[in-house]
Amino acid sequence: MADTLTVTDNRTGKTYQLPITDGTIRAADLRQIKVQDNEFGMMSYDPGFLNTASTRSSITEIDGDIGILRYRGYPIEQLAEHATFLETAYLLLHGELPNADQLTEWELSIQRHTVVHENVKQFMEGFRYDAHPMGMFISTVAALSTYYPEAKAVRDPVNRKKQICRLIAKAPTIAAFSYRHCQGYPYNYPNNKLSYTGNFLAMMFKMVEAKYDPHPVLAKALDILFILHADHEQNCSTNAMRAIGSSEADPYSALAGAAAALYGPLHGGANEAVLKMLTEIGDVKKVPEFIEQVKAGKCRLMGFGHRVYKNYDPRAKIIKRTADEVFAVTGRNPLLKIALELEKIALNDEYFVKRKLYPNVDFYSGLIYQAMNLPVTMFPVLFAIPRTVGWLAQWAELLDDGEQKIARPRQIYTGPGVRDVVPITHR
Ligand code: ACO
Repeated sequence: MADTLTVTDNRTGKTYQLPITDGTIRAADLRQIKVQDNEFGMMSYDPGFLNTASTRSSITEIDGDIGILRYRGYPIEQLAEHATFLETAYLLLHGELPNADQLTEWELSIQRHTVVHENVKQFMEGFRYDAHPMGMFISTVAALSTYYPEAKAVRDPVNRKKQICRLIAKAPTIAAFSYRHCQGYPYNYPNNKLSYTGNFLAMMFKMVEAKYDPHPVLAKALDILFILHADHEQNCSTNAMRAIGSSEADPYSALAGAAAALYGPLHGGANEAVLKMLTEIGDVKKVPEFIEQVKAGKCRLMGFGHRVYKNYDPRAKIIKRTADEVFAVTGRNPLLKIALELEKIALNDEYFVKRKLYPNVDFYSGLIYQAMNLPVTMFPVLFAIPRTVGWLAQWAELLDDGEQKIARPRQIYTGPGVRDVVPITHR
């Protein structure tokens, strides 16, 4: 009887014992619960996956009630302080932090792939002059599948590793090209002498100078932001990556789908929405009035609340510190004053306290990006670059998981019963 759940179906009076493993029951075990033998059997109904585990995963652990985020067991705070983004990427993909030799080899294997085919550049040049960078990013990543048709062999580990390196290396190049395109600037080629984020900043901002030196504080700040965004277990875009990957699509197509899921304002677009909100509020004096509108249900306080965190998002704390370092170089973002006032009021207001609404990762990240001269339209792209690592780690885990099958939920049909088609002349 231990580790089982006893369920009595009051429609029939029958009792069932369902095994409990790791605090869960298997949804398929509910199928034996029926009134008639010819019935399909009971299902669970969970729109938005509020309480359904879709996988076992050993990559990222979150305890949203106490505000914990760990990659492979390492607290995010320690990784942000002692590791680089590429070390963190290695950890997420391989399960352990690299030693010095492994890191050198890993960095080289990424650098080897930073350039994109000249044809990809031409492809990107075909976008409209004002194309949104995220639309360009999503489409160009998908287009890469046509350059690497061998990527379809997703079960071949050597091939898979190569595509993973390609995607991590090319994501910043495609991202920077998409920015240069919508600015009408010539594209900059990668410089492998620079760090991962230093190279990205150079591809973004180098103009006519012979040598572009990214500011070390800004490159470091971006590296920390990339660490914080690298993975976040089974979120909307990761779920998309896994769902597409479950059909054994190539990783470029799957990752383009994941990036598309990230594009929405309730997910990767939230920091853009935060800046828009702060700009609209415009003045610290207007904050109490805005909070009243939120409480009246007229709008949401963007950058607040999270499906999983019911405490201060640990990433938001690190970002707040990073913001001070960035503002020391760039000057203070004038919107910061409004953000701090919003946070102060919200954290003490019963509406937000009762609903456990705290600042999430996006509340401050937009302010940092804006201070670094990164335009708002690039925000979701800046999220997609580091999350590429998390998507790929989760995708590889899915492919190696013998329990996984093609993702295919059930539905409760609510449409009409059977009826006859009336020819158009009689309708
Ligand atoms: N402002 C005001 N009220 C809110 C907010 C908010 N930002 N977020 C949630 N609430 C309220 C809801 O109105 C609801 O109140 P009710 O019980 O009186 O109806 C309650 O809190 C629960 O909210 P849900 O919408 O049920 O929570 P859910 O888990 O579905 O939503 C989400 C999570 C989408 C993040 C939500 O908090 C939100 O819209 N936040 C603003 C957008 C945002 O910052 N998104 C970024 C998420 S982080 C990321 O993707 C990286």
